[in-house]
Amino acid sequence: MTALLAGLPAQEPDKIIRLMSMFAADDRPGKIDLGVGVYRTETGETPILKAVKTAEARLLDAQLTKGYTALSGDPAFHRAMADLVLGNSVPQGQIAALATPGGTGAVRQGLEMAIRANPDMTLWLSAPTWPNHPAIAAAMDVPVRTYRYYDPATGIADLSAMLDDLAQAKTGDVVLLHGCCHNPSGADLSRDAWEEVARLCGRLGLLPMVDLAYQGFGDGLEADTAGLRHLATAVPEMLVAVSGSKNFGLYRDRVGILLACCPDGATRDRVAGTMDWLNRLSYAFPPDHGARVVTTILTDPDLRQSWESELDAMRLRLIQMRQALSAELGRITGTDRFEKLRHQRGMFSLLGATPDQVAALRTDHGVYMVGDSRINLAGLTIETVPSAAAAIAAAMT
Ligand code: LMR
Repeated sequence: MTALLAGLPAQEPDKIIRLMSMFAADDRPGKIDLGVGVYRTETGETPILKAVKTAEARLLDAQLTKGYTALSGDPAFHRAMADLVLGNSVPQGQIAALATPGGTGAVRQGLEMAIRANPDMTLWLSAPTWPNHPAIAAAMDVPVRTYRYYDPATGIADLSAMLDDLAQAKTGDVVLLHGCCHNPSGADLSRDAWEEVARLCGRLGLLPMVDLAYQGFGDGLEADTAGLRHLATAVPEMLVAVSGSKNFGLYRDRVGILLACCPDGATRDRVAGTMDWLNRLSYAFPPDHGARVVTTILTDPDLRQSWESELDAMRLRLIQMRQALSAELGRITGTDRFEKLRHQRGMFSLLGATPDQVAALRTDHGVYMVGDSRINLAGLTIETVPSAAAAIAAAMT
């Protein structure tokens, strides 16, 4: 008998997920988790939002069936999410939508569609990017090239380097952009930069795919989509992979949607057919519970208002932690080296520590962060900022 499964190649674990189990296994009481991108309150919890609790209670009461939805998910969810993300930048009749298990599912299905539309495509990823982007591409045998994006010296996005690199892309290539709150750098494109990127995509015939996992965590729900909405008006076709994990706090319920902005209704119908088929062959129907919770919140004025204010409180806490950490590091080190933390947005920033320094922070101080020195600001509290800053300063100087 042949033992086939024993011959499976060993898989390198995802570095963010591995960090979660390392942190859980550490029994030091003062340990600080700046690893996985999960929101935490000032008291360290990842709460269920009030709007979510209310919407779930309503659903529990009113829902009459758990029968299948459509392959692409509930049309009301499509409409509510297209409106939240795209506003009126694209006519309804030109948007195809696919409910997916989380934003990761949307990235995967978006790439599955893009490779079928153009088997010769190359995927352009920002350097750096979320580690699962290149991992998914590698699993699909999609060729990847990177474009320079984050400049560690200034802490901002280097538009001219980005445009120089993307100028080498060929027609039909896919450019993956972060809609807001760039993961891992927190450095976003300015409005002018989005316009430049839109011009380049138009000129070279590139297909932009925007990963939007943190809408509402940067400068607000509308501001965080201004760039991608401009892009949607400037290019004929665009994909958006949206996650509801963070802004609705629905991590484990796997809320995601892939939106395709199409040049006309006929293309939209063609895309929608491909989307149905992609879901069918992957998992048949997408998860529905979290999507229905989101739809309930977005379509009820009171719940929506409650959700928006909770989201804004999360956003403001991240900004507060940015200011506190940057001020404390400035005070201890007597430099403006960490000033950039204040200007970046979203959950993440890169400290600029070496892998050895990151390892020392973990082993000597119980401060956990991703190997490239990405920190999740939501892992800090007013109380832990001084000890985290002291550890960072000690390890990095
Ligand atoms: C992160 O970047 O930490 C989050 O998006 C969680 C994940 O799945 O990696």
